[in-house]
Amino acid sequence: MANNGQSGSRKTISLSGHDYSFTEHSYDIIVVGAGGAGLRATLGCAEAGFRTACISKVFPTRSHTVAAQGGMAASLGNMGEDDWRWHMFDTVKGSDWLGDQDAIEYLCRNAPKAVYELEHFGVPFSRTEEGKIYQRPFGGMTQDFGEGPPAQRTCAAADRTGHAMLHTLYGQSLRYSAQFFVEYFALDLIMDDEGACRGVVALNLEDGSLHRLRAHKVILATGGYGRAYLSCTAAHTCTGDGNAMVLRAGLPLQDMEFVQFHPTGVYGAGVLITEGVRGEGGYLTNSSGERFMERYAPSAKDLASRDVVSRSMTMEIREGRGVGQNKDHIYLHLDHLDPAIIQERLPGISESARVFAGVDVTRAPIPVVPTVHYNMGGIPTNYHGEVLTEDRGGRDCIVPGLMAIGEAASVSVHGANRLGSNSLIDLVVFGRAAALRCAETVHPGAALPELPKDAGELPVARLDKYRHASGGTRTSEFRMAMQRAMHENCAVFRTGEVLEEGVRKIGDVWSAIDDIDVSDRSLIWNTDLIETLEYENLILQSAATVNSALARLESRGAHAREDYPDRDDENWMKHSLAWTDPDKKEVRLGTRRVHEFTLTREVDYIKPKARVY
Ligand code: FUM
Repeated sequence: MANNGQSGSRKTISLSGHDYSFTEHSYDIIVVGAGGAGLRATLGCAEAGFRTACISKVFPTRSHTVAAQGGMAASLGNMGEDDWRWHMFDTVKGSDWLGDQDAIEYLCRNAPKAVYELEHFGVPFSRTEEGKIYQRPFGGMTQDFGEGPPAQRTCAAADRTGHAMLHTLYGQSLRYSAQFFVEYFALDLIMDDEGACRGVVALNLEDGSLHRLRAHKVILATGGYGRAYLSCTAAHTCTGDGNAMVLRAGLPLQDMEFVQFHPTGVYGAGVLITEGVRGEGGYLTNSSGERFMERYAPSAKDLASRDVVSRSMTMEIREGRGVGQNKDHIYLHLDHLDPAIIQERLPGISESARVFAGVDVTRAPIPVVPTVHYNMGGIPTNYHGEVLTEDRGGRDCIVPGLMAIGEAASVSVHGANRLGSNSLIDLVVFGRAAALRCAETVHPGAALPELPKDAGELPVARLDKYRHASGGTRTSEFRMAMQRAMHENCAVFRTGEVLEEGVRKIGDVWSAIDDIDVSDRSLIWNTDLIETLEYENLILQSAATVNSALARLESRGAHAREDYPDRDDENWMKHSLAWTDPDKKEVRLGTRRVHEFTLTREVDYIKPKARVY
């Protein structure tokens, strides 16, 4: 294959009496993660003539993007008037003014182009009568800068949009001869003494071999860390591995306190029921059969933004108006809709409701509850996808050789709250942007700098430590303690007292990690070991999340502090940064300014105002 990098030579190191040897590989670009963002970047880099490798711990079309249902927002205007500036206004308002407006302009302006590219790659979008891409309403998407009716902006392939997108992008990446390392687990970044990223160390899950892959750029597209919580819509693989690699490299994560609860996870199972249901006319009711969203969001009602709907549902439940034996969930109705429409536009969730809730959606409501769905926080980047940190003077500076995109990144287009259907579009717009940036800054085939002499030793020492760990506590016990603490102490509503307890609980679990017990010592499909490495990744991010949440003394977007109920722009219109110290088990916090400027003069900075729906 023309674009393959060189592979082959080997280096051996010895650790505590065990020999580990690396297979060496050289590429121009390495993408870690094969979800929507990773595949879009892989495709773009391979198409641009780069020797491109994509490492994924699962087969690419099994990445979590495959579960994305409702669609991607882009102002195509196929189903009514639309304008990218309206999309930008909605996104800024949705972010509760924590989003960087230059990045939001980039997202909304480039969204239509990115969707048409997908169409031309072959994504089988649903169609209107005239053959145009079908678009449905989604929460918080409006016409005319929030003054008009809901905008039909979300481009959909029935309710299986992520599935359609992932298969198309994988096929296209193969067409351009991108090289895939399938079922390889990325252990850590290779950083040099100047703080530049030079590559990545990975373990082949199937045969236990170790690999050092070096490149001009490493692009992290490793997704979110929903599995830090007890119940989430995310796959078991969503352990934020790239975020944790960044923390271990001594770099910060941004805005980790902002965790999105999707209003409609299936009660008990956590499985997603798309917001597209409410876009197609579905609605929520409490135990009196009341459409309670009319009280909380008189204008947008069930199509208010997710943080607003999730909070309203939680209030109904708290005040005794939940449904079911324990009055602890809410009903989502689509039983009033035409079964033919349900069959055409929502076939996937009809099946999920039947399998996971035993409900025929044409006859009965689905029991739902707000469920962890998305991480607004992640690796700070600019709109090219280049990773940012602070220089000694506290100013933004780029980490050479390192990029991040998708849910792993905090660009920040979602700020304190993401609008539904702004995630899939974020994946493709910034996956594409990262590939374009590589084309601007890297020459295909250029010589790679030498790796540091000890490259890869630290990650392998970590692997070796856990492989031979023989403490008194199973990984699953630690994981359960972490997930319970996050669910109980860092949920939809928060107070200082509850968060302080959360900081203590997470700190205790984190501090006990040396007591971990791994029983399988092999390197071949050792799921015990991989779950342990994933757990370590999760506990770092949990610590960053709960500490950042305790520190932010205001309510903004998904961060609802009952003891600080108002947004405080004077003191808190800033991103939070969190670094972790793995030895002391401590989190250090800082801040970064929000970009209160746009990318071009074609649109004005959108000034903060009260956020009502
Ligand atoms: O509800 C959904 O279909 C999810 C979409 C999203 O998170 O963007």
